[in-house]
Amino acid sequence: MYQISRPFTDNDLEFDQEMIRGKDIKSVLIVDDEAVVRSGISRALSNRNMAAKTAANGKEALALLKNHPFDLVLLDIKMEDMDGIELLKRIRAKHPETGVIMITGYPTIDTAVYCTKLGALDYLIKPFSLDDLDAALIKLDRKESLQTDSFVRDDGLKLDFGKHLMVGHSHPMKRIFEKILKVAPTDSTVLITGESGTGKELVARAIHANSNRKEREFVAVDCSALVETLLESELFGHVKGSFTGAHQTKHGLFELANHGTFFFDEIANLSLNIQAKLLRVIQEREFMKVGDQQKINLDIRIISASNTELSESIRNGRLREDLYYRLSVVPIHLPPLRERKEDIPLLIRHFLDKLSQRIKKPLPDISPEAVEILQEYTWPGNARELEHAIERILILEDTDMIRPVNLPSFITQRQGELQILSDEPLTLEELEKKYISLVLKRTKGKKIEAASILGINRKTLAAKIKKYALR
Ligand SMILES: Nc1ncnc2c1ncn2[C@@H]1O[C@H](COP(=O)(O)OP(=O)(O)OP(=O)(O)O)[C@@H](O)[C@H]1O
Ligand SMILES: [Mg+2]
Repeated sequence: MYQISRPFTDNDLEFDQEMIRGKDIKSVLIVDDEAVVRSGISRALSNRNMAAKTAANGKEALALLKNHPFDLVLLDIKMEDMDGIELLKRIRAKHPETGVIMITGYPTIDTAVYCTKLGALDYLIKPFSLDDLDAALIKLDRKESLQTDSFVRDDGLKLDFGKHLMVGHSHPMKRIFEKILKVAPTDSTVLITGESGTGKELVARAIHANSNRKEREFVAVDCSALVETLLESELFGHVKGSFTGAHQTKHGLFELANHGTFFFDEIANLSLNIQAKLLRVIQEREFMKVGDQQKINLDIRIISASNTELSESIRNGRLREDLYYRLSVVPIHLPPLRERKEDIPLLIRHFLDKLSQRIKKPLPDISPEAVEILQEYTWPGNARELEHAIERILILEDTDMIRPVNLPSFITQRQGELQILSDEPLTLEELEKKYISLVLKRTKGKKIEAASILGINRKTLAAKIKKYALR
């Protein structure tokens, strides 16, 4: 199997003696098919005065469990003969007093939640540090394991991310996953904010996919891409002859999304006129086609997104405050990738997997050095920029092991040029201007390429070039 995870090093084994650790846990069984993982965890646990035994597969584990009571089992999900989930089921059935923490190299909310539903106390994502292990043990001590989280107890929850797999294991991402699962089955409006490329649309789709509206439409509309006059008839539809050019009665997007989910992207770009109409629709739960008197009942879930600070838009009068409150019942903020670098290795793995399948290339491995460089880069275009970088590497570099030499030069040479960061303090706008001009210089003014590196579309780039008067 393809693995980015590095084996435990002695560095990992250093730990802070002062930390509280799972006092009630005396005996632990480690089940993993990788010997390095087994011995690493085992050493760490004996340093903490816990008796650790190891098993390389499900059969061995069951045999040990039969003759020996364990307080805790650390269980790898992917194993050859019997997978961890199967083993989890058996342990829960035969040894209900034994706690189980799952270990996985490829986390998805689906498996995590599935495992916790089956009775796992928590899950750790490979490669994990001893701090993570400690945190899990402390959590067990305080009985605030995942199992007690309300979202897991909700039995009506069926997870189906389908093709919209979302990965992440940083603290903020875990919180976001929980929020998604909690809010999905409700009809509350959700406002997703975050820089460009942080995954706002993916979150919106994940909410829809986990809601009971998932069999119905998810309709996304980019509020900045539509002209005002058309937007109205696009949203509400129109009847034949209601204006010049309305040759046919047209069903609007609201009608299409009825009983489903409506996603308003770049909500701050909606004109004030449409904002007023939208507010009325949300309040009255009905609407009319342009040029029509007949009211249509509306049952939609509204999710909106913005990559700008909306309080600013409200202050300068571009966004109605009353609409804002209606739309932001549940706010979800996605932090930029540079603030959750621990998600980068997971995203790399995810994108390599997804893109190599899409472009039909064998899945390459990636060296720890290359991962480290990618992890240190600031990713102003966030996950999308990372995705594009991986795609380019897959297309251009014919290698079964991605090494630093295979990485785009703007990433490896960043140290020298991003000195702008250490110069005089810059505002975000000034930094953006400098960075865009840097990328334009590097791409010799090729806008398509520059936009791709920046992880924004060409229109957005053109607007920014104009705004900052770049050439
Ligand atoms: N946590 C994640 N796991 C997997 N893929 C992700 C994640 N976050 C983002 N992506 C991927 O990165 C790309 C950009 O995400 P998305 O389109 O949702 O961003 P966005 O915030 O809507 O960006 P914009 O503001 O530019 O519209 C998509 O291909 C998405 O699938
Ligand atoms: Mg988007």
